[in-house]
Amino acid sequence: MTITFITGANKGLGRETARRLVEAGHTVIVGARNAALGQEAADAVGARFVPIDVTDDASVAAAAADVEAHEGRLDVLINNAGITGLSARPDELTGEDALSVLNTNTASVVRVTHAFLPLLRRGSDPRVVNVTSGLGSQTLTHDPERVEAQVIAPLYTSSKAAVTMLTTQYAKGVPDVRFNAVDPGYTATDLNGHSGTQTITEGTDAIVALATEAPDAGTGRVVDRHGVVPW
Ligand SMILES: NC(=O)c1ccc[n+]([C@@H]2O[C@H](COP(=O)([O-])OP(=O)(O)OC[C@H]3O[C@@H](n4cnc5c(N)ncnc54)[C@H](OP(=O)(O)O)[C@@H]3O)[C@@H](O)[C@H]2O)c1
Repeated sequence: MTITFITGANKGLGRETARRLVEAGHTVIVGARNAALGQEAADAVGARFVPIDVTDDASVAAAAADVEAHEGRLDVLINNAGITGLSARPDELTGEDALSVLNTNTASVVRVTHAFLPLLRRGSDPRVVNVTSGLGSQTLTHDPERVEAQVIAPLYTSSKAAVTMLTTQYAKGVPDVRFNAVDPGYTATDLNGHSGTQTITEGTDAIVALATEAPDAGTGRVVDRHGVVPW
């Protein structure tokens, strides 16, 4: 049985990923910072709830200890939790604003991965799936044909560019665990006030694919539901 931990799984893409991976036969652990919402989501999809605030070292350590005590290992870690941060103009953004978005979206990937790596190393075909964004792509944000080029969100875009680079660097530096990044695509969730053009199921296609693919599928890739993302 493949054991999968998903951060930010009480709603949106994380919750739909949890639902689909339970359906695919995984033992899924729903990670969420709000206990009531996390438990409700876990019950709804047939998963186990574990509290985790990805910005809090103690909370992340406690979540890893919980998984160690209950499951004893992990096969798939999905770093999904994320925020957009303020929609302020670039000239109004402060250092504190930057630290907040980079902490949740980027430092948390390092924090959670660090805490769960010992459990992943006991797993089978251990994999980390980092949820990045096309908004973190140099290529897509400069292509006038793409929706990504219309967005000005310095903190979110840079936080996701860093997630993508973290993924490829970990892939090179940690060869015993597979690290891949996924752009869900523009999907209707609370993150964008449900303005996204994809359904939640379309938005999770590539996340589910990375979580369920064959062990020889590779590491250090950046993909969306259509294939390789130029980043
Ligand atoms: N939707 C899109 O179009 C799109 C496109 C590209 C990438 N993405 C990425 O996909 C991921 C999921 O986003 P979504 O669209 O599903 O958004 P969403 O519905 O707003 O869900 C975001 C999730 O992250 C959780 N979260 C935020 N801060 C957290 C923290 N400190 N600790 C633990 N959990 C935290 C939220 O929990 P709370 O409910 O407690 O706030 C929520 O469960 C994000 O990384 C996002 O950047 C989304």
